[in-house]
Amino acid sequence: MTEWNPRNVVVGVDGSEQSRRAAAVAAAISRTHRAKLHVITVVRPPEGWWGVVGSPPPADALAASMEHAQRTVLDQTLEGLDTEGLEVMSSEEIGDPSSALIDYCTRIHADLLVVGRRGAGMVERIVLGSVADRLAHHAPCALLIVPASRE
Ligand SMILES: Nc1ncnc2c1ncn2[C@@H]1O[C@H](COP(=O)(O)OP(=O)(O)O)[C@@H](O)[C@H]1O
Ligand SMILES: [Mg+2]
Repeated sequence: MTEWNPRNVVVGVDGSEQSRRAAAVAAAISRTHRAKLHVITVVRPPEGWWGVVGSPPPADALAASMEHAQRTVLDQTLEGLDTEGLEVMSSEEIGDPSSALIDYCTRIHADLLVVGRRGAGMVERIVLGSVADRLAHHAPCALLIVPASRE
């Protein structure tokens, strides 16, 4: 049988409790296999914001606040994560979350992508989040979907 020896493990984080749990699972797997852990957050491009705010914010203010939002998500996730003995890198991507995660995994030849079953979305009734759902169909590598602890 061919062995599965992951070198690159990616986790998608959106600041939600479930994505923090996914990060913990990804870290444990990375540690076991001595794989590199990539902690990735994706923020949607400006179009999505205009509908909420009413008018397009100035480009530099937008860029600054997006970067801030991404940084906060990454910082908070990494703060709560046991990364001892792990090679970790984090990155902020811009675009549609599922597409950007797929592109990232393809680019770095990821062996495993880990996400939560649900995220920070407001549609609480949907069983599988839309990002997780799309990834289940289109992930370019093995995909691990992590549910909340009490679901
Ligand atoms: N913007 C994002 N950047 C990185 N990962 C994300 C992003 N959005 C969602 N994910 C990942 O996908 C999981 C499921 O989220 P999602 O499908 O968006 O559910 P919901 O619809 O409840 O928000 C999250 O726990 C997270 O691991
Ligand atoms: Mg979501």
